[in-house]
Amino acid sequence: MRKKYIIGNWKMNKTNSEAKELIALFKEELSGSLNENIQVVVCPPYTSLDMANSLLDNTNIKLGAQNVHYAPNGAYTGEISISMLKDLGVEFCIVGHSERRAMFVETDKLVNLKVQEILKNKLKPVICVGETLEEREYGKYKEVVKTQIEQALKNIDSLCAQSCVIAYEPVWAIGTGKNATVEQAQEMCEFIRYVISQIYEIQVSQKVSILYGGSVNINNSKDIMSAPDIDGALIGGASLKSEFIDIVKTQI
Ligand code: 13P
Repeated sequence: MRKKYIIGNWKMNKTNSEAKELIALFKEELSGSLNENIQVVVCPPYTSLDMANSLLDNTNIKLGAQNVHYAPNGAYTGEISISMLKDLGVEFCIVGHSERRAMFVETDKLVNLKVQEILKNKLKPVICVGETLEEREYGKYKEVVKTQIEQALKNIDSLCAQSCVIAYEPVWAIGTGKNATVEQAQEMCEFIRYVISQIYEIQVSQKVSILYGGSVNINNSKDIMSAPDIDGALIGGASLKSEFIDIVKTQI
């Protein structure tokens, strides 16, 4: 059985003191009740990683970052390296989020370099893929996502591929309150698994965790996460409040 992941992507929200309050609440409500079939990960902004690492020490809630630079160090003003993240207890790193692809020119090539750097350092990349509304309406959505997956996994061997987490996040569902239906989400997660099986082999594709993200909330999370190819959720807005705890509790 594949592990289920519930990952909170806080984006550019919460000051350090606000983050401290929320992490403390997550810890109090969740850390005693999680089992090995479910992995909860929180991805606060860089500025709260150190605090979150101290608070979550000795709990089964893990820490993720929202981005990383692909170079190990150097003259990249304003950027953060993987060793800096590792040093703060970060174990997961989101890559290729559609907001970064759209607003910060994160290309497939850049996504691939980041995935390589993350895997080289034994962290888990959470690779985001997904089509825009226009691409869906033109019937190009599978083609778009296939290319994103193939490019992100370029030069990644099959062992490393198994430790990747993929998040299917249709751009039109992010922050809109208009989630994909369970059928749409399942169709795409199944398709992504198929694409991975074509790059490697079926056994590899069966081991990769594929999540859905886009307007996940307490009312739709249970149905979405019960689909056979959906191994959890990447949650934005609802991860900024106690609703995140309620969503996790539906899975334990
Ligand atoms: P929302 O849950 O706010 O739609 O955001 C999804 C997302 O982008 C998670 O990475």
